[in-house]
Amino acid sequence: MQKLVIQGGIPLRGEVRISGAKNAALPMMCASLLTSDVLQLSNMPDLHDIATMRKLLEQMGVKAVVQGDEMTLHGAQVDRLEAPYDMVKTMRAAVLVLGPLVARFGEARVSMPGGCAIGSRPVDIHIKGLQAMGAQVFIEHGYIHAQAKRLKGARILFDIVSVTSTENLMMAAALAEGVTVLENAAREPEVVDLAHCLIAMGAKIEGAGSHTIVITGVDRLHGTTHRIMPDRIESGTFLVAAAATGGSIVLRDTRADILDAVLEKLTEAGACIRSDSENIHLDMMDRPRSVNVRTAPYPAFPTDMQAQFMALNAIAEGSAMVVETIFENRFMHVQELHRLGARIDVEGNTALIHGIDHLEGATVMATDLRASACLIIAGLVAQGETVIDRIYHLDRGYEHIEIKLSQLGANILRINK
Ligand code: UD1
Repeated sequence: MQKLVIQGGIPLRGEVRISGAKNAALPMMCASLLTSDVLQLSNMPDLHDIATMRKLLEQMGVKAVVQGDEMTLHGAQVDRLEAPYDMVKTMRAAVLVLGPLVARFGEARVSMPGGCAIGSRPVDIHIKGLQAMGAQVFIEHGYIHAQAKRLKGARILFDIVSVTSTENLMMAAALAEGVTVLENAAREPEVVDLAHCLIAMGAKIEGAGSHTIVITGVDRLHGTTHRIMPDRIESGTFLVAAAATGGSIVLRDTRADILDAVLEKLTEAGACIRSDSENIHLDMMDRPRSVNVRTAPYPAFPTDMQAQFMALNAIAEGSAMVVETIFENRFMHVQELHRLGARIDVEGNTALIHGIDHLEGATVMATDLRASACLIIAGLVAQGETVIDRIYHLDRGYEHIEIKLSQLGANILRINK
């Protein structure tokens, strides 16, 4: 079992390159199921979730070739229309094969995602959307089994804003007969990046990035090349780590325009931030001030940055309230922060954090992807040694994080123990 060992107390300094966005890459890999031509994706991050999705697509018959940060996907010989339990249980995003498979092949069997560490996370919205487009959906033996001769355009109103449901149905609608209107659609930049890729493949999509997306189905899509957008959550995580340690860093190959809510909160915490089209500079002179955070769909504050701000608030001056409105049970990092001495009270979906002068190193356990990022930030500021256990959660979504942090001067090591 691998662990991370951090000697805290060193301000981060220097430059780091931001990788391609996991949450844009995953749906785009599934878009390869929509065409028999080659889809070539660049700026692919090297992550466990990407490897899992590649394996899943290969099991279906997609030919995948990786060279550096490029992945070529060829879906000419897809012959297995199924996402098995073993894959879906480790990565919920596997449900993103559902829409493309039904749209192109008229059938799909996808294992029901089970319970998940950060809440129940159902898939009812994905299923209802496909039913509205004329698919017959049966739940049998733990699988979602969907069939449709050809999907038909429909008006679909999401009662909850859901990122992967929007992506799944946008891909399905691209090959459906007629016009589909997605109302109350997710506006996340990853949805927009996927729409750009689909448009380059010949799809007719308008309004991605707004509440209403209109897709006019076409008979076939073709191959294309597409560069994956930068990872805004990786960017935000490094910025918070620099702010918490009182450091000064530059992020390269990123975008500030998709990080407004996070940059605003960091500025409120006392950070000095400058940015241009591809770089973000952050300087933190003093101890951070505590900042209230309320998670909500984009463009509001992202749930995937909530845990990292909890670590920042733990050592900030003053008290702050963090409210999680997207996922139930996404405060598991709180009990781990307690081990480091943090003072945090939780009541339902609200955490009240009383900032303290310093945290003290201890052994802690990563419980999910973003919780592990929170623990790294806490370890970087804590006095003495912090050991983080179960870091496989981290490897799902952060590319070579200990190498990148070492480049910024952190004392962090991966050990096998
Ligand atoms: C995506 C992101 C994840 C991020 C989340 C919210 C990917 C691969 N993952 O996850 O990193 O934390 O958006 O920004 O892009 N819901 C239902 N029924 C459904 C689907 C969702 O009730 O069928 C609920 C969820 O339980 C949650 C809310 O809708 O409360 C939003 O979830 P959703 O946006 O769907 O999250 P994901 O797309 O799974």
